[in-house]
Amino acid sequence: MVGLERADDAGVYKISEDLALVQTVDFFTPVVDDPYWFGQIAAANALSDIYAMGGVPKTAMNLVAFPLKDMDLSVLRRILQGGLDKMEEAGVVLVGGHSVEDKELKYGLAVTGFIHPQKVLTKRSLTAGDRLILTKPLGTGIINTAIKGGLAKGEVVEAVTRLMATLNRDAAEVMGNYPVHACTDITGFGLLGHLAEMISESTAGLEIWAGKTPIIPATFEFAAMGLVPGGAHKNRDFRGGIVDFSPSLDNLFRDILFDPQTSGGLLICVAEEAAEVLLERLREKGSDQAAIIGRVMAEPRGRIWVH
Ligand code: CO
Ligand code: CO
Ligand code: CO
Repeated sequence: MVGLERADDAGVYKISEDLALVQTVDFFTPVVDDPYWFGQIAAANALSDIYAMGGVPKTAMNLVAFPLKDMDLSVLRRILQGGLDKMEEAGVVLVGGHSVEDKELKYGLAVTGFIHPQKVLTKRSLTAGDRLILTKPLGTGIINTAIKGGLAKGEVVEAVTRLMATLNRDAAEVMGNYPVHACTDITGFGLLGHLAEMISESTAGLEIWAGKTPIIPATFEFAAMGLVPGGAHKNRDFRGGIVDFSPSLDNLFRDILFDPQTSGGLLICVAEEAAEVLLERLREKGSDQAAIIGRVMAEPRGRIWVH
């Protein structure tokens, strides 16, 4: 049902009239120093693509690349424990895995979930008038850059670590009860990069309200210091051509809205009349910083207006 021809968050394969498999794989190098937290974050990130399709993850397999010669095996044990605890929290069963020796440590999961064939949420089924809801604040790429430079305070490190390790499960469960037309999760391409994908075969355009977009407060300070990861510039070079920024908008938004996210939130595209109610329910269910950040417009097609 969903495959390579239209890359989405995950692939979907129909088994029967009421059951389809949804499959995804994701792994990366450490984003935090603590191995246990890294394991949790990598697992939450890998599971997220299943949630972004509207599916429920069921089984997972570990993917490990580990520098056996340079690192103690206890580090790997902590990573795997973090991943396992996150899978347990998500109700996912670990059924196997594979490891290789590598110079650089990497960890992630291949995940399989279930989804009803009629309830698959792709990225591109937007309708003019729909509202866009973002469930987690932006800024993890910029803050991680500051952390690597030793510039972030302990409380900022802790807050961003918890945010990245938070499952998108509850938000996905809530959205299942509302007229949601499209969904994706915000990861490496940044908010605007992922929004650009949503309108890439475009039948619509987008209006984004920068001031209403949830952003981790410390992000502004670090972006102003130039602590912006290379990925943000790459994302802007790739997709900036279809984005119009209001001239009166603070320049920092140009970096922050393209900032690559690790285990970011869901971007939910919902019918206008249901947006406020859905937002309320999302906030009650733990997405306390969720916000309506923009809307789908019939014209101009294929463009994003940020103001
Ligand atoms: Co995704
Ligand atoms: Co992914
Ligand atoms: Co093997």
